[in-house]
Amino acid sequence: MGDDEGFYRRCAEAREAIARMNEPLIVNHFDCDGLSSGSLAALGLQKMGKKYRMKTVRKADAALFEEIKGEREIIFVDIAGASPEVDELQGTCVVLDHHQTKGGNALQANPHLFGIDGGSEISAAGVAYCVFQTAADLAIVGAVGDIQYPLIGLNRKNLEEGERAGEVLHKTDLKLYGRMTRPLANMLQYADEPLLPGLTGNEEACSHFISRVKIEQKRGETWTTYEMLSEDEKKKFTSALIEHMSENGMGNAAEELVGEVYLLPLRPKLSELSDAQEFSTLLNACGRNRNPELGVKICMGDEGALVQGRALLAEHRRNLRAGLDFAMRNWIDLGKFVFVDGRGIIDDGIIGVVAGMVYAPRRGKPIVAVAVDEEGKIKISTRATKAQVAAGLNLGAALRSSAGAVGGVGGGHNIAAGASIPSGKLDEFLREFAKSV
Ligand code: C5P
Ligand code: ZN
Repeated sequence: MGDDEGFYRRCAEAREAIARMNEPLIVNHFDCDGLSSGSLAALGLQKMGKKYRMKTVRKADAALFEEIKGEREIIFVDIAGASPEVDELQGTCVVLDHHQTKGGNALQANPHLFGIDGGSEISAAGVAYCVFQTAADLAIVGAVGDIQYPLIGLNRKNLEEGERAGEVLHKTDLKLYGRMTRPLANMLQYADEPLLPGLTGNEEACSHFISRVKIEQKRGETWTTYEMLSEDEKKKFTSALIEHMSENGMGNAAEELVGEVYLLPLRPKLSELSDAQEFSTLLNACGRNRNPELGVKICMGDEGALVQGRALLAEHRRNLRAGLDFAMRNWIDLGKFVFVDGRGIIDDGIIGVVAGMVYAPRRGKPIVAVAVDEEGKIKISTRATKAQVAAGLNLGAALRSSAGAVGGVGGGHNIAAGASIPSGKLDEFLREFAKSV
C-alpha cells in the first residue's frame, strides 16, 4: 500500500520550493506526458505570477547537464528523477517525475519514493497537477499518453478532482480512436484496437455499414463524427458494431470496443483537444517529430498552434504506419524476447511507440526495438505486458543494468523502458539484456 499522504506532503513541499524561485528553467521530456507536465508547470508558474523558460529534451544525458550547469533554478519534469548528475548541479533543483528511482539529494516529488507505482498509477502530468493544482485536464492527457489506462490510484483521484472542477468528464462509451474528429467511415476504416473484421482497411464496407445503421454520413457540408450523434444514434451504432463483431466470430473482442473515455469540456468542442486520447496522440506527434514547442503552445491554448499540429499529426500517422509495417515484416524471436532492428529505417523518436504497437508476434514476450539517434548512438525501446509485469518483470531495472554494463544509460518503468548505448555494442547489450529478464 502506497503512502498517498506522504506523497501529497512532498508535492506541497515542492510547490513551496518553487514558490521561492524567481525565474526557473523547466526541463521537460518530449513525449506526450512530458509536454503535458511541462505545460502544466508553465501554467502553474504563470498562476504564481512568475516568469520561466522552458527546455524540452529527448533524454537526460551528459550534454544536457553540461548545458544547464550554470542555471540557478531548475524544475525537472518527467525526466532526470534517476539521474545522479542532478545532485552535482550548482543551482536549486526540484524534480517532478514518475520514473523508477531511489531518489537523490534534490527535492523530488515522485510516487516511487512513497511506494506508489508511477508506471501505472500516476504520470508526470499527474504529479505536476498535484504540485500546481491547475489544469487537471492535462493531468489526464499525460496519463493517457503514458498508456496508464484505465485510470486508477492517484490518477483516479486527479480525475475526480478534474470532474469537480468541470475540466474533465469520464463515461463508458465506444473507445475507437477518432470519436471527435474522424468521419464515421474513417473511424471504422482505421480502427486497429480491436481490428474490425471486414471493416478495417475497407472504406467502402465502412460506408455501407453506416448506411445500414441508417445514420447520415454528412450533415450539410460537415462529415458526421461519432461525437455529433445523438445518444440514441450512438447506442444504435455501437450495438450494430458489437453485433457485427459477434457475427464475425469476434464476440470477445467486441468487449474491447467499449470502455472508459475521458472528455475535456473546456477545450475547443469536437476538436482533437476535447478527447484525452486524441489530444495525447497530437502531443506525441509534435514531440516525437521534432516540434515540442508546438505541443506546449497547444496545451496552453494557442489556437493557431492547433492548426499546425494537425499537419504534423498526419505525418506522424504516416511514419507510425510505415514503422509498424516494417516491424511486422522484420521482427525476429530471440528466445527471451522479440527483437526489431529499426536502425536506418525507423526514427528514434517513434521507435518506442512502434514497439508498443507490435502485438500479435510477441507471443507473450517482451519486445526490444532499436534505432539510431542523432548522435549515432543506439536508441533502445522495450515494452512488456501487464501480465509479464505481474509475473515480476521490470524492464526499467533490466535496462539500467544491461545498458550500464555496455557503457550506456537506461531506465524507465517496469512496463516500458528505454536506453541509449554506444554504436557497436548492440550484440553485447542483447546478451546482457537476455540475462537480466
Ligand atoms: O524511449 P521510450 O519511449 O522507449 O522510453 C520508455 C520509457 O523509459 C519512457 O518513460 C522514458 O522516459 C524512459 N527512459 C528512461 N531512461 C532512458 C530511456 C528511456 O527512463 N535512458
Ligand atoms: Zn511520463
